[in-house]
Amino acid sequence: MAGTPFTIQSFKTAKEKGERITMLTAYDYTTASLLDEAGVDCLLVGDSLGMVMLGYENTLKVTMDDMIHHTKAVARGTQKAFLIGDMPFLSYHVSVEEAVRNAGRFVQEAGAQAVKLEGGLPIVDKIRAIIKAQIPVLGHLGLTPQSVNAMGGYKLQGKDIETARQMIDDALLLQDAGAFGIVLECVPDGLARIITEKLDIPTIGIGAGAQCDGQVLVIQDLLGMFRKMRPKFVKTFTPGGDTTVAAVKEYIEEVRNGSFPAPEHTFHMDGELLAKLQ
Ligand code: KIV
Repeated sequence: MAGTPFTIQSFKTAKEKGERITMLTAYDYTTASLLDEAGVDCLLVGDSLGMVMLGYENTLKVTMDDMIHHTKAVARGTQKAFLIGDMPFLSYHVSVEEAVRNAGRFVQEAGAQAVKLEGGLPIVDKIRAIIKAQIPVLGHLGLTPQSVNAMGGYKLQGKDIETARQMIDDALLLQDAGAFGIVLECVPDGLARIITEKLDIPTIGIGAGAQCDGQVLVIQDLLGMFRKMRPKFVKTFTPGGDTTVAAVKEYIEEVRNGSFPAPEHTFHMDGELLAKLQ
């Protein structure tokens, strides 16, 4: 779908036509511009920025102000991709009113076109209210990193019959509430396939196998830039971490040995003027 802007309707169309949806995270202007130029369908300003941009242990310390700051930057670099802001921990848990107001900040202040929330039944009242305020919502089931403490770590979800059935029920509930799609994170492929087949809205997988309607990856993982953690579902498409370290080593070497900056990187002074100055 490169060329034309990806819109909220495009999600439905893609599912109907069996066209797989591509999504990547972005957190800054330059990266967003490059991903948009490459033709990715949607950009997610994920709260994963807490880990890959801010260096926190998990996503729980990320604030609304962090998210708005980064979403604004990504919005400035985005022309065609559909832009989704990720609602951080506690921004939608306390009350329906707070959830709607915070979702509204993503749209009004930051320029997002939709928001993403983690969870099913316990937050469905918030999702309904946000959608009622005309803000499209992307759901997120399976491994929901904001629940890392409650889940006891980053683990595969839906491994037994009860939790698998619960996830199917939650997916149907989110669809019924009006979500335009659902991210399925760290879920066995068979369960992701069943959910995908049961829904009219697209599923976007990350660690959920090849049967989802779309795929999302954290951009630092795709580029091999984040070396602290590497889940099984990550594919590194280019060794960006290695090339960055190599480039910086070269820079250090050239500055130290005087070969950079070279004449072509230098503004030369007019000879006469120089003579007068000296
Ligand atoms: O925060 C994030 O980047 C996410 C994606 C991995 C789906 O939630």
